[in-house]
Amino acid sequence: MLCTVVHAMAIPTSPKERNLNATAAVAAAVVPAAGRGERLGPGAPKALRELGGVPLLVHAVRALARSRAVGLVVVAAPPEGVAEVVALLDSHGLDGKDIRVVAGGATRQESVRLGLAAIPAGVEIVLVHDAARPLVPVDVVDAVVAAVRAGAEAVVPAVPLADTVKRVVPQAAGRPEPVVETPDRATLRAVQTPQGFRRAVLCEVHEKALAEETLAEAEGGLPPVTDDAGLVERFGGQVVVVPGHEEAFKVTRPLDLVLAEAVLARRRASDGF
Ligand code: C5P
Repeated sequence: MLCTVVHAMAIPTSPKERNLNATAAVAAAVVPAAGRGERLGPGAPKALRELGGVPLLVHAVRALARSRAVGLVVVAAPPEGVAEVVALLDSHGLDGKDIRVVAGGATRQESVRLGLAAIPAGVEIVLVHDAARPLVPVDVVDAVVAAVRAGAEAVVPAVPLADTVKRVVPQAAGRPEPVVETPDRATLRAVQTPQGFRRAVLCEVHEKALAEETLAEAEGGLPPVTDDAGLVERFGGQVVVVPGHEEAFKVTRPLDLVLAEAVLARRRASDGF
């Protein structure tokens, strides 16, 4: 059901809907943008915070729309902010792409699920991109779509780690945490978005996760999955990594906004971005 039904509540931002059924090679992107972003400090929902005078969400949707491989973008907005997001996207002419808005959910996973339900039949490649990654270069978007077109069922862009990583036994804030293990850094990657999927695969794992969640509620729930590729792994699918980009970082903490402003200023100075 999740995979075939067009969500009745998806609101097009302007009259640009096209018949995507004839273009199965064109990707649709889901942008979960319903998070509060509390680690960024008090204020508007994270996706609506500004970077260079433009909301993070608008940057993220533009970054996707810039790719010729992307024909449709579905934004999962904060449930109380759907009308605001529709107006916002309308006011920032977005390359004539088909952009739709749905109400997001209580978790990232639920927001993605609600966005997926708004993708028309016939679209076979789906990207999921965090609104909180406003500066992803178009080459990364294109590389992810290309890898799915080439046959991968799930593709994630990722970069090597600069820091050594240790597994610990978490303790209350401020308490020393015993180290359990130091994984070999050469085998680790920091994963970004957009992540790309064969639509049927992504739909299937979201449906299975929903069913599992319902079953597991009585036992205290399942460990959280923080990205969509993680769901594919949980159910035995094969995920592959393609090169990501240092500018595709996630804006999570106040310092990330400072860095993002600097990247944007450099782009604007060098190519009128
Ligand atoms: O919290 P985190 O930074 O991991 O969120 C990643 C993305 O998921 C953000 O773009 C955020 O807006 C989105 N999200 C969502 N619905 C939620 C929680 C997070 O769409 N309930």
